[in-house]
Amino acid sequence: MSAAAVEEAQDTLRDEIVATAGDADAATDDRVIVAFFCRECAYAAADATGNARISLPTTIRSVLVPCTGRVSPLYLLTALAEGADGVYVAGCLEDQCHYRIGNFHAIDRVAFVQRLLESVGVEPERCQMFTMSAADSPRFVAAAKRMHKVISDLPPLVRSTGGAAAVIAAGVAPNAEGA
Ligand code: FES
Repeated sequence: MSAAAVEEAQDTLRDEIVATAGDADAATDDRVIVAFFCRECAYAAADATGNARISLPTTIRSVLVPCTGRVSPLYLLTALAEGADGVYVAGCLEDQCHYRIGNFHAIDRVAFVQRLLESVGVEPERCQMFTMSAADSPRFVAAAKRMHKVISDLPPLVRSTGGAAAVIAAGVAPNAEGA
């Protein structure tokens, strides 16, 4: 893939994240949690969940990525800065990533973002990582419900006085793209 094509794909994904994060229902003052699902095990678990007609909490908004290794810290922070109250990454089990170690990168990046959030006074539990097998619909649902509960128990994320927006404005996040 050429550099231009990579850049275009990143821009497209960023636009999707911004649109997804801003998808709150103003009428119900609903919270938004942006969930990054890998297209392999997490998507298969999501599919099985849908086939079983099990609904996820209404707060969950999904963004599909080829592998959790594609989720940079900047994407997580962008979702928080653009309207999400929480973010999480769901991928394959530790030794079952279809790109070998993408989920290990994701685990490290989520931990990095948690530390970054904490350093600016934002609850680190707003960003989490889950792994699951393709057949593990119960684990997929449990992850969504857990994030819904965590975010429902927290106040809405305030952006005007700091938080993730301040992190991005301070120029910290862009440098984290390749962390
Ligand atoms: Fe699922 Fe890498 S393909 S985490």
